[in-house]
Amino acid sequence: MSNSPTTSDALASLSHFEKVALLSGKNTWQTREVPRLGVRALFMADGPHGVRKQMGPSDHLGINESAPSTCFPTAATVANSWDPTLGRKVAEALGREAAHIGVDVLLGPGMNIKRSPLCGRNFEYFSEDPYLTGKFGASYVNGIQSAGIAASPKHFAVNSQETRRMTSNSVVDEQTLREIYLTSFEMMVREAAPKTIMSSYNLINGTYAHENGHLLQDILRDEWGFDGMVVTDWGGGNDPAAAIEAGGAIEMPSPGFNSVQELMDAKNLNKEKLDARVAEVLNLVKRVNPITADDDIYTAHHVLAQEVAEQSIVLLKNENNILPLAADTRVAIIGAFAFTPRYQGAGSSLVNPTQLATPVEALDRSGLNIVAKEQGFRHGEELAAQEKQAALSAAGSADVVVMYLGLDDNAESEGKDRDHLRIPENQIELLKAVKKVNSNIVVVLAGGSAVEMPWIDDASAIIHGYLGGQAGAPAMVRVLTGEINPSGRLAETYPLSLNDTPTAGRFPATEQDSFYLEGPYVGYRYYETAGVPVQFPFGYGLSYTTFAYSDLQIDAKGVRVTVTNTGDCAGREVVQMYVGAQKREIQVGLAPESELKGFAKVELAAGESKTVEIIFDEYSFRRFDVTSQAWSGARGAHVVSIRKNSHDVILSGLLSAEDVAAAAPAGASAPVGASAPGGEAVHPAWEIEAYRSGRIHGVSNSSFSVLMGREVTARSASVELHANSPLSDLKHAKSPLGRMVSKYYLEAGLRRADRKGKPDLNLLFQYGMPFRAIAKMSGGLADQKVVDGILLMMNGHFFKGLGATVRGFFSNKSRQRALGRTYEGLSTGTATSGSTDNDSAKAN
Ligand code: BGC
Repeated sequence: MSNSPTTSDALASLSHFEKVALLSGKNTWQTREVPRLGVRALFMADGPHGVRKQMGPSDHLGINESAPSTCFPTAATVANSWDPTLGRKVAEALGREAAHIGVDVLLGPGMNIKRSPLCGRNFEYFSEDPYLTGKFGASYVNGIQSAGIAASPKHFAVNSQETRRMTSNSVVDEQTLREIYLTSFEMMVREAAPKTIMSSYNLINGTYAHENGHLLQDILRDEWGFDGMVVTDWGGGNDPAAAIEAGGAIEMPSPGFNSVQELMDAKNLNKEKLDARVAEVLNLVKRVNPITADDDIYTAHHVLAQEVAEQSIVLLKNENNILPLAADTRVAIIGAFAFTPRYQGAGSSLVNPTQLATPVEALDRSGLNIVAKEQGFRHGEELAAQEKQAALSAAGSADVVVMYLGLDDNAESEGKDRDHLRIPENQIELLKAVKKVNSNIVVVLAGGSAVEMPWIDDASAIIHGYLGGQAGAPAMVRVLTGEINPSGRLAETYPLSLNDTPTAGRFPATEQDSFYLEGPYVGYRYYETAGVPVQFPFGYGLSYTTFAYSDLQIDAKGVRVTVTNTGDCAGREVVQMYVGAQKREIQVGLAPESELKGFAKVELAAGESKTVEIIFDEYSFRRFDVTSQAWSGARGAHVVSIRKNSHDVILSGLLSAEDVAAAAPAGASAPVGASAPGGEAVHPAWEIEAYRSGRIHGVSNSSFSVLMGREVTARSASVELHANSPLSDLKHAKSPLGRMVSKYYLEAGLRRADRKGKPDLNLLFQYGMPFRAIAKMSGGLADQKVVDGILLMMNGHFFKGLGATVRGFFSNKSRQRALGRTYEGLSTGTATSGSTDNDSAKAN
């Protein structure tokens, strides 16, 4: 677009009407164009582990089929590789495929922190740890953008639950916000400069993310230097004028001309800020120059998808080295997932794969002696005697039984959270029955998030493939047979039980406010500080070989340690560096026992040794000081440890207070000196036993108020429905009609889907969406007046509401048409005087 005008020339030539129109989408996936200025429409598409460009009518939930593209392992899976260079390769491929089919902005990666293993979208996110998430997030954004397109990392920020996802208010203290929920985004923005970022649906401390000036201006732009464009999540637009003021630009999908009208009517709209947002959109169009690939990328990408899956598989248990399986082993395969694998989750990330290998096919080709194949169970259906018998006789005929178990399809979906951490009961019953016939059982697990394993003693080996993408099945078979030595490490903790999780009993929040009472004690930060035993700690994973560590050296620059492969086959080890204050209580804010601050994956031949160096960086020794509202250096001496995982320390040493001060580089993200070691007062939350010990179960709202620095009280649910009430609140509607819609349509529909074991994405979306989204997501079919009418009806004023709805509907229809014509005329330069009546307020 060499002859297109500069951004400032374009701004000068755009009418006020065109400017505000550029801040909302043209349809489900595209932005608006201005043909007379050579500003083209951009095409946006999901997603995080494969490109989903829909072919038929658009929806944004993965309901209608999309063009085939490579389904890579999901983010939760790839994070287990602990190898961001692999993440980069995946993302380069995603970028290439997106560019290849005309996608300009790829909506991913998903970077939210796993606050609870119950979150329904955890399979799309990397980790419970911000450092690991930040490294992967940066590698994905760099990879995607290497194809000339834009990445849109999401969902910014503090989007931890699916329940009430579009209206939930995340109430979180500033230190936790910065250290846990934002550090990952900060690392990614600084290391990868995304061209766009997607704001989340939720509110943060009372303000919608897309209208949150603290988040979008103070932190994202002023502190981190982001210079791209902020897009809403789909249907996440609320008040477009407030968004402009705060730093939020495009509202997607298309609200028709509703938001345009709202902005045309807005009094006191800040013209400078409007220009800034429009400039961000125009710059984005200039910055997106897709590099098209013409070779057969899909074959190579399938191979890559397998390689990534292989490197991400986590061996959790291997009693008596039952794995790997020797070539002549007689194997019985049991489990529905062996025939129809689970390889991705449900929702907007759903990819239509280019090909799909199944475990039974891969096992048939493996050289193992497959003596039987039986279906077993997928969902929670009754255990039929016949199937059970077939599985048991299969088990009896083999040396080893390989059982494919895991979370069912309904467990992991956008739009809903899990309510327990179990795998279906009938799978466990079958496992226990098989054990009586043949105790050599290898469990191959599928699922994108942590599960409880009260059945762990019934399996000799457990190997976890997570959601391995379209080539996950052959990848797993290569690990089972020892062609690949497993090197994945869990990127999240596996608790012994749901009750042990830091948010137990409080997640998900079912009312509007979600109190992040646990502060920074998220994931292993909680378990290690509070001393809570877990099933498998963060960072855990076994290998077919063994590693020994020696010669740890620590100085102000970083650590060096020698790792030796002491077994008899080649393998990869993940060297993990954790840092924790010797005196936690002198820190300016709450400090968990230890935190991951560096890692390296190293490949070693049998007997080989390598010295691994992990350098401290600006994130190693910093804490957010709420008093000065700035980062400050960590105080006093720190224990630096090399751990096998978050719990098992291999080697450790002390870094002196002086070296800690020297190691925390001054500069943008860590201005040391705001607090001298051992200096000023510490955070008052240290006075509270629960926050000191990390045992935060049962922490009260008044203690949380101390952490927050302001009074926090639970709000009672609103009796009146309003524009921002989710449709799920219809169950409290005054109107019997509303309660009927809730009972017979929404609730009954969701139960039906549960029984079928398949999430109903449309219904889940409607359930969580606020009334305002009726106007925001209908492409202009309804506007706020229609929504107001519907609300009147639902609040018990049926006839008044009905009248308002019908009037609103018809007046909106003609206005939408008129506004559409105006935009068409202006943007193409064919407007005749008279057709630009709406353009009363020319900006320039
Ligand atoms: C999801 C986003 C997704 C968007 C577009 C939303 O419902 O939260 O992650 O990118 O839809 O499909």
